[in-house]
Amino acid sequence: MKANIALTPGDGIGPEVVNEARLVLEAVAQRHGHQLKFSEHLLGGCAIDAQGTAMPDETLAACAAADAVLLGAVGGPKWDDPQAKVRPEQGLLAIRKALALYANVRPVRPYPSLARLSPLKPERVAGVDFVVIRELTGGLYFGTPKGRTMTPEGERAVDTLVYTDWEIRRIVKLAFEMAQKRRKLVTSVDKANVLESSRLWRKVAIEVGREFPDVKLEHQLVDSCAMRLITHAPQFDVIVTENMFGDILTDEAAVLAGSLGLLPSASLGAGRLGLYEPIHGSAPDIAGKGIANPVGTILSAAMLLRHSLGLEKEAAEVEAAVNLALQEGQHTADLGAKEPLSTTQMGQAVRERL
Ligand code: IPM
Ligand code: MG
Repeated sequence: MKANIALTPGDGIGPEVVNEARLVLEAVAQRHGHQLKFSEHLLGGCAIDAQGTAMPDETLAACAAADAVLLGAVGGPKWDDPQAKVRPEQGLLAIRKALALYANVRPVRPYPSLARLSPLKPERVAGVDFVVIRELTGGLYFGTPKGRTMTPEGERAVDTLVYTDWEIRRIVKLAFEMAQKRRKLVTSVDKANVLESSRLWRKVAIEVGREFPDVKLEHQLVDSCAMRLITHAPQFDVIVTENMFGDILTDEAAVLAGSLGLLPSASLGAGRLGLYEPIHGSAPDIAGKGIANPVGTILSAAMLLRHSLGLEKEAAEVEAAVNLALQEGQHTADLGAKEPLSTTQMGQAVRERL
């Protein structure tokens, strides 16, 4: 098959890890006779430096026209001034919104061979295998009114948590469809004891649930879900939740895997186009040192093969190669290796096992 892949390496360690993922994609494509064409585009802080905007029009046009987008990370101390008019993160939010990628899929399945890395007791992590589906284009991130005003009582800031029923329906439906192919349990996370938007969320989740009688639906309040993720993580199968709750819970869930450097994500919309990125950030402290773990990005590339290109076998091959490399003790510094591999060596270790 032929496909166009837009790369937005971004800032910090982004370019280093994206490069390894690209080499893995090229190796897989070659083995299977696929033709992948790559193009590189500015997004985030590097785009602000070059063009004064976090998401240049050229980048959006190229990503919209591509079959898939592979992103590194955006942001860094250089652009962190709270007074700044433009921020790297705006590029990420803008591209998600502009491409209508409303579903952020974050699988969490710790590698047994790395269980020692988790700060949790081994029995809390054993058997953990769930996926969080985070709503990505609504809620507090995008709701209006939004902004700051001076009032007689003082300076006031407002963000708005707003959802319309169809936005909830499409994401909850996706959660049920995924659960059907898994252990058939959906945990819908909300704050229905306090928030009106959550009461609508819960009502819609129940309605959608009726269309999937083979899948069990449970509701959980976000605060108690945060606790249960630590105490009873193996019980979860598919978690579905609104934007901000999902942002917080997925960072928490990453702790189960032991290193933020290992986890991939996919942002999906109605069509095949998706945006794939590791869940870690730009890690400015280690940028340019060649020591970042490329596994989260390589596994994101595997999700790209699966969800945007429909290449399930190839995706599984990449995942198996990563699994084998890790099992055989091929580890970067974040995995606590005594003689850690560099970013390139880790990428190489995965490619050799394809
Ligand atoms: C994430 C990140 C982003 C988010 C930031 C960088 C805007 O934390 O992808 O989880 O909040 O969505
Ligand atoms: Mg986050």
